[in-house]
Amino acid sequence: MTLSKEFLQELEQAQLGNTNWEEYHQPIMPQEVVDLLEVKSGKVIVDATLGGGGHTELFLSLGAQVIGFDQDEEARVWAKQRLSHYGDKLTVVASNFAHIDEKLSELGVDSVDAIFADIGVSSHHLDADYRGMSFQRDGALDMRMNQTGQQISSEQTGKTAAEIIAQTDAETLSYWFKTYGEEPMAWRLAQRIVEAREHTEFKTTLQLAEFIKDQMPAKRLAMSRKHPATKVFQALRMVVNAELGVLEAFLPRAVSCLKVGGLVGVMSFHSLEDRQVKQFFKKKSQKMLDQPNWPAPRANPDYSLDVVTSKPVMAGEDEVANNPRSRSAKLRVARRAV
Ligand SMILES: C[S@@+](CC[C@H](N)C(=O)[O-])C[C@H]1O[C@@H](n2cnc3c(N)ncnc32)[C@H](O)[C@@H]1O
Repeated sequence: MTLSKEFLQELEQAQLGNTNWEEYHQPIMPQEVVDLLEVKSGKVIVDATLGGGGHTELFLSLGAQVIGFDQDEEARVWAKQRLSHYGDKLTVVASNFAHIDEKLSELGVDSVDAIFADIGVSSHHLDADYRGMSFQRDGALDMRMNQTGQQISSEQTGKTAAEIIAQTDAETLSYWFKTYGEEPMAWRLAQRIVEAREHTEFKTTLQLAEFIKDQMPAKRLAMSRKHPATKVFQALRMVVNAELGVLEAFLPRAVSCLKVGGLVGVMSFHSLEDRQVKQFFKKKSQKMLDQPNWPAPRANPDYSLDVVTSKPVMAGEDEVANNPRSRSAKLRVARRAV
């Protein structure tokens, strides 16, 4: 399915001129997503991460019906209003995608043709000071994508980044900074934060960002083009929103919601998330299992998927030049086999 010239022009103009689009996310790899998910008129597609509705708009423009999930109220309100001219072709669901199966069954939907997730935060989350995710704009140290205070996922504690920083021991903080942020100074930063807590309460984004910067050796500050707090902020955001936990819950549930022959596509921005998707697809796509101590290979009771993308699909050079955020996106797609 080829996107119309007019639509691609609109996208390009939006990218250049329309701040709403910029704030609320530009769809990444639009052509690849619609091709690989075989989006066309009459299909029912779940967009598990509605965001600004960029991908959802593509699906709707091609005649599909879309059920869009988002745990963020701002995203839901914005996308619903922006796409209101599609009427009942779009259903918006207030939920973490970890509950996809329950929510679809509440809507009376047994199975769908495709499920797409573009995981992570939107550029709006990163830009808006009051979301507490930006180390460049001052705001309360929040970082929750779901700011309603309601627990809409059992995987998430509902705690803000400020609460997590105040309540977590140095070993755990260090583990998170290292594992989720790949921060080489994880232990030192965690220790310093715990020491500073004796007399300081970390309440705002700039306060924490400046504190982290102050701990960095001059050499690292001179060598890196990225803000020194980038890695710690990423790690905290992943913890606050339980990003790996909800992805783990989502994948098998998403497969259970697909028709046989239906497609699931996940676009991730972090190597741990991509690995999780890759391993899940691998485990579910092996028809036979074998072990040295078995007399013969056995059928895999978990076989349910065929992998469509043997390697992750990545944005082309032109897209990366226009939208730097697309650089780290990896898209994997699999088809429900049984
Ligand atoms: C990267 S943006 C999606 C942008 C969208 N594809 C577009 O083109 O406009 C991710 C969105 O997914 C939401 N989100 C992230 N993780 C989620 C989860 N586990 N459940 C529900 N929504 C989630 C975020 O709140 C955010 O609005």
